[in-house]
Amino acid sequence: MQYINQVDLAGKRVLIRVDFNVPLDEEGNITDDNRVRAALPTINYALDEDAKVIVASHMGRPKGKRVEEFSMAPVARRLGRLLKKEVALAPDCVGPDVEGLIEQMKPGQVVMLENLRFHKGETDNDPEFGKALGRLCDVYVDDAFAVAHRENASVVAVVNTAPVSVAGFTMKKELDYFRRAMLDPARPLAAVLGGAKAMTKLPALENLLEHADKIVIGGAMANTFLMSVGIDVGKSLHEEDLVPVANVLLKNAKSAGVKIYIPVDCVVANRFHRHAETKLVTTLDVPKEWMIMDIGPATSMLYREALRDCKTIIWNGPMGAFEMDAFSRGTYNMVSTVAQTYAMTIIGGGDTDVAVSNAGETENISYISTGGGAFLALMTGEVLPAVDALGGYTGLENGGTAH
Ligand code: 3PG
Repeated sequence: MQYINQVDLAGKRVLIRVDFNVPLDEEGNITDDNRVRAALPTINYALDEDAKVIVASHMGRPKGKRVEEFSMAPVARRLGRLLKKEVALAPDCVGPDVEGLIEQMKPGQVVMLENLRFHKGETDNDPEFGKALGRLCDVYVDDAFAVAHRENASVVAVVNTAPVSVAGFTMKKELDYFRRAMLDPARPLAAVLGGAKAMTKLPALENLLEHADKIVIGGAMANTFLMSVGIDVGKSLHEEDLVPVANVLLKNAKSAGVKIYIPVDCVVANRFHRHAETKLVTTLDVPKEWMIMDIGPATSMLYREALRDCKTIIWNGPMGAFEMDAFSRGTYNMVSTVAQTYAMTIIGGGDTDVAVSNAGETENISYISTGGGAFLALMTGEVLPAVDALGGYTGLENGGTAH
């Protein structure tokens, strides 16, 4: 895999694929521009090298149709403000009008293409759509780590058609941090996994048995693990069919010498609501009609102890329903634990970054990934189609990495 700083960009049309799929409020205002800020080093580098910079991204899931609420317009404005220069928004992302606009560009100028997913060819990884994008540039730069797990035309098909294809600095940084954490970590290495669904996290957990020394589990996914050791979780969210799988995983962890931590106490509620009645109980005492909403204080202390000596920590997914204040303590305790350790800490996905930023601890985390699904895919050891297309190998792919 080649990188942007290894090729000549001067005077060239440089198409930079970024992931500016940012959250918007009801009025269409950007509520978190981290992904835009993360792309600035790559965009500024290309500008410094006198390139004509064409920025491309998807936003939302408009399913191949032009949907105004998913226009890149607010992001183009934000990028313009951050770069302190005009960012022209193209009327579309491919076609003669866009080609004409790019034809007139001068070095040092920036054009943002309209949402790539306004065309079905994007998510279909259509080679023709890839060609239409490739025609727009002399150099293609993939800096969109957060969408690297998707086989989309702007990160896969385009690579075969652009004259030169390289990766940007965000892509490099994301992969480098993950490699350091998973392939050559300072040990002990702990993985903290939370979130609602065990289904989406179990493959990552299985892969982590190859890498981690400790695995700490929270969120509703922990309920399936509690059930797998015979604990009655009342009306808590759980995945019945995965109970045996969770049990096998616990056994495999034991034979692999990996310590797995599951909650010992919890906050329960009589309904899934922020005004629900709540109690603190041990996980052995969950009332039949109640549900687990967060890890309890004893669990937070136990997890803090477990993580105290760790030198590397990767965290994905909250410890409870932290969007409701009554069930947010477990997640915020974890934020403070992770922020205060002397470990290299990497977090990403499942709104974990939101919790860290709400707690004002962003500066105390070594690296916050821009990826959600892509972060989890790396943890799972999946081949990332976009990295593969660039001729890269993360080194984390299943089967190649056991320590
Ligand atoms: C993300 O936000 O995880 C990426 O932009 C991918 O978006 P998607 O899940 O809609 O493919």
